[in-house]
Amino acid sequence: MKAGREELMEIIDLWGYSQEAQERILEILESEDVPPPHLFRYYGPLEGKGKVWQAERLFERTIGTPHALAVNSGTSALMSALAAAGIGPGDEVIVPGYTFFASASVVVASRAIPVIAEVNDSLNLDPEDMAAKITPQTRAVIAVHMKGMPADMDEIVAIAREHGLMVIEDVAQACGGSYGGKMLGTIGDIGCFSFDFYKVAQSGEGGFVATEDEFLNMRAQSWHDTAACWRPDRYAAERREGELFCGENYRMSEMAGAVALAQIRKLPGYVSRLHAAKRKVRERIVERDGFSLRRQPDPEGDASTAIVMFGPDPEGAMAIMQAMRERGVGAGGRFDQTVRDWHVYNFWEHILQQKTVTEEGCPFTCPYYQGTLPDYAPDMCPNTLDYLGRSLHIGVSEDWTDEDAERIADVINEAVEEVLG
Ligand SMILES: Cc1ncc(COP(=O)(O)O)c(C=O)c1O
Repeated sequence: MKAGREELMEIIDLWGYSQEAQERILEILESEDVPPPHLFRYYGPLEGKGKVWQAERLFERTIGTPHALAVNSGTSALMSALAAAGIGPGDEVIVPGYTFFASASVVVASRAIPVIAEVNDSLNLDPEDMAAKITPQTRAVIAVHMKGMPADMDEIVAIAREHGLMVIEDVAQACGGSYGGKMLGTIGDIGCFSFDFYKVAQSGEGGFVATEDEFLNMRAQSWHDTAACWRPDRYAAERREGELFCGENYRMSEMAGAVALAQIRKLPGYVSRLHAAKRKVRERIVERDGFSLRRQPDPEGDASTAIVMFGPDPEGAMAIMQAMRERGVGAGGRFDQTVRDWHVYNFWEHILQQKTVTEEGCPFTCPYYQGTLPDYAPDMCPNTLDYLGRSLHIGVSEDWTDEDAERIADVINEAVEEVLG
């Protein structure tokens, strides 16, 4: 059954156009006779020039990488990265205790052991704790750039290189950010991006895997496409050992590719507007004893989706938030640590209680695993719980005017003054 005008009209309806507009659009569409679109990214008239292909090439240019592979989610990007790196039974992968659960669940889904490490005052992976948690089984680290902020990549990469670990960057929440002049996702060995609805750039669902390494790219491509079904020379025998293996299907469709392409075009401008808006507020905020801003490992590279601050303790942070709200500026926090949240490791009972999809308990009971399982417990990363428990979060808007920025900063300063005296 071919897709045509009716399907396109459903998409237009999804955008929310009025009935009247839809009728006018349909009239225009009916005035032209076009063949049905080819919505599969591989094979067919658009091969090598479809929307997904264009989005990949534009993403490569935008973040400065030779290889970007489009996939259907950020989780798929992480799974493809782990598969590309050959991580599986017997391996440990270090993940921070503050990240969306997907960064950790993919390790278990890949049948490897997740080792949960602390975050520091950047709310990203603490290099010191990462180093302390390396064992002979450690194969990789997933450095997550949470809420727009680059992690301490110099330290993380240096420690990883010293121990021969693969560095996978999870850039789901910081697309368009950079560190030391390099775009996030191009600093480690593989960068994983999410284009889900809530991300900096979105295509409804979607993601990208970025790498400089041709072999890793080839293996990610194989994994994301069932078993290398549609690789460039698709019926060829294995060109290099490690190319052919059984994989999943994480292909991006041409419809998501079209949206991703437009979003990538807008990405640099959007991030620079967020950056300017955040800077104006941040520069006006007064830090003092008991009140500080989240550390920026690279202030220039902050993708600036959020302003995060720390109060003296959960009660103090909550009081600051209330004083801000009374003055008309909303903020969120994690003061009540009993409220469930998939971004904080103490709620990852799937991992803490070693729940697995099959009964034999792999990877936690895997005979290939020669290490000692981490002591999984809700209080295993106390610094992470401390930082999060007294953190205050505000989402940044590209629409903030100079006056908005001044008002928000002034409200924060007044609220802090009221609470801390
Ligand atoms: C840090 C992080 N990693 C991975 C993901 C997973 O991305 P997706 O929803 O596209 O699978 C998310 C999504 O929320 C995320 O925030």
